[in-house]
Amino acid sequence: MSLNNPSVAIVGATGAVGTELITCLERRDFPLHDLRLFATARSAGRNLAFRGKGLRVMELTENTLFDCDIALFSAGASASRRFVPEAVRQGAVVVDNSSAYRMEPGVPLVVPEVNADAIAAHRGIIANPNCVAAIAAVPLWPLHREVGITRIVAATYQAASGAGAAALAELRAATGAFLAGKDFTPSVLRHPYAFNLFSHDTAVDPASGANAEEIKVVDELRKIMQAPRLPIGITCIRVPVLRAHSIALTVELARAIEPDEARRILAAAPGVKTVDDRENNHFPMPSEASGQGDVLVGRIRRDASDPTGRSLALLVAGDQLLKGAALNAVQIAEHLVD
Ligand SMILES: NC(=O)c1ccc[n+]([C@@H]2O[C@H](COP(=O)([O-])OP(=O)(O)OC[C@H]3O[C@@H](n4cnc5c(N)ncnc54)[C@H](OP(=O)(O)O)[C@@H]3O)[C@@H](O)[C@H]2O)c1
Repeated sequence: MSLNNPSVAIVGATGAVGTELITCLERRDFPLHDLRLFATARSAGRNLAFRGKGLRVMELTENTLFDCDIALFSAGASASRRFVPEAVRQGAVVVDNSSAYRMEPGVPLVVPEVNADAIAAHRGIIANPNCVAAIAAVPLWPLHREVGITRIVAATYQAASGAGAAALAELRAATGAFLAGKDFTPSVLRHPYAFNLFSHDTAVDPASGANAEEIKVVDELRKIMQAPRLPIGITCIRVPVLRAHSIALTVELARAIEPDEARRILAAAPGVKTVDDRENNHFPMPSEASGQGDVLVGRIRRDASDPTGRSLALLVAGDQLLKGAALNAVQIAEHLVD
């Protein structure tokens, strides 16, 4: 059933993703009747601009009446576990940015360029993927559909804003302190961030050595691409970039493929922009991916370590606050409206 001129709520409206959700609804002229903004008591009473007006942020509590048709949740997994069931009970369709429901059977996990058709089967909740999974799926899917992917090896270069507004502020403050020659004690992330990089700041599974981010990306890519046994190896790294994640991908395919064929497939794929200028050494960069919805793909070349010719190497960059979160959620919501 599609909705006509729905009422929309954003939960987590003051966060790194929430503020982008407001911007995406405005920029894409989302057909809504009214918009309600929720966050914690810390932010209640703040005004955020939408379509030329100031909207007051309200505190979300157990007694909140969502009073909306579509609720865009972006407030972390524990807030989603606590409040999403009530929003659904009150009749809202929830698009959830957190990890809370992504792997639940029966909950569609959607990147519209890949599996928009899964949206129709929702039972009140549609999950938005992890940012790396969403960004990687956009160029991986056309290669998988056209040729078949048999194995993926990836390394990520993830921006500070992927860890939220507070981590972004910490990178700025740490960099300022470093340049001023002052001491800085990190409080959001565990390690010094200015002019440094570190293994992703999620818990490491003692048995496998994989961190929670890596586990999410593998599980979610398999679910989105409907490839439950696809072998995927990944190393997730936090780098001192403000915004937009980059990913080095090595992709083994079902048959040998020329880089030009891959370039043609990727150039025709929705949501992909090829940036592959060898002459000028111009390839995907987070600075150019920031603020745009397309995922940039370049350095498309043979992986020299595979003598069969079946493996390609690619460099990808995508704005994780947009395609990795807010834009993807709004694209999903667009499929819910008339
Ligand atoms: N950042 C990314 O690139 C990215 C990408 C994909 C998915 N996500 C997911 O999106 C979600 C939000 O991430 P973020 O980066 O935007 O985090 P953030 O900048 O820390 O913002 C969190 C937001 O949630 C609100 N919030 C927290 N607990 C709440 C509660 N109990 N009730 C109501 N509101 C609550 C906060 O309100 P206050 O301002 O009042 O504290 C704030 O508006 C997370 O689940 C994250 O995993 C993030």
